[in-house]
Amino acid sequence: MSDLKNTERLDKILSNNGIGTRRDVKRLIRSGKISVNRIIVREPEFHVDGSSDEILVDGKPLTVEQNAYFMMNKASGAVCSTKSDRRKTVFEYIFSEDNRKYPGGNLSTVGRLDADTEGLLIITSDGNLIHRVTFPKYEVPKTYLVYLRDSVDDSEKLSYEKKLAAGVHIEAEGKDGEADCRPAVIEWKEKNQYHTKTSECPSEVCCLTVTEGKFHEVKRIFKALGNEVVYLKRIRINNLFLDETLKEGSYRPLTKEEIRLLDVEEKND
Ligand code: URA
Repeated sequence: MSDLKNTERLDKILSNNGIGTRRDVKRLIRSGKISVNRIIVREPEFHVDGSSDEILVDGKPLTVEQNAYFMMNKASGAVCSTKSDRRKTVFEYIFSEDNRKYPGGNLSTVGRLDADTEGLLIITSDGNLIHRVTFPKYEVPKTYLVYLRDSVDDSEKLSYEKKLAAGVHIEAEGKDGEADCRPAVIEWKEKNQYHTKTSECPSEVCCLTVTEGKFHEVKRIFKALGNEVVYLKRIRINNLFLDETLKEGSYRPLTKEEIRLLDVEEKND
């Protein structure tokens, strides 16, 4: 069998290539309908190389589309939508035109960042991965570097921590109603180690980890705590961190290992 670094689970390859949901394909594999290099495989977690191993589904060869996966360090001002009259979309950073078509499927973002938010954005043609990483039941952690308008003293810091751990109640915004957020974790940072675009030291710096993706969630959380986000940058999704060597607005393909760090195990409903 091929080098493990270039392989993926058989159930994942099958579901990514239109054979069914992860649950469907697990059933198919266990029923002995799938062979790899002419040998029947009954273990969904069996690793195969989609580019070189011959996979037969009920005797018919599987055409493995290679999905595209990019990491972008999103620039402030870029919008995550597919069309925008005023501002450049994140897709235009890749194609320099209004186009999302890529071999293997249309590109989409894994969740959205506000126009003024910077940092880690994943762009892919893998709809199953988008579902797993963004669907609330998976509770995928996302970490943001946050600069706050007001400094926070030690007793207030404790109060923020407690409120965040209990789940902050946020007010309605846009079409999104008021809601109780899931517990979030805050880590206070040494503010002197950071600087704003005009080289000033921010009033307060922290990292906030949330496990859902409500509209303007981080900004609404700090508003509910009586403060305001003045700078926001996503630095982590699941176990994948932003490559800080990527310049603002630039992107590169993800490695297989990075896709693994980003992805989560499919859960049954
Ligand atoms: N929370 C926000 O408020 N904005 C983002 O862009 C992402 C999370």
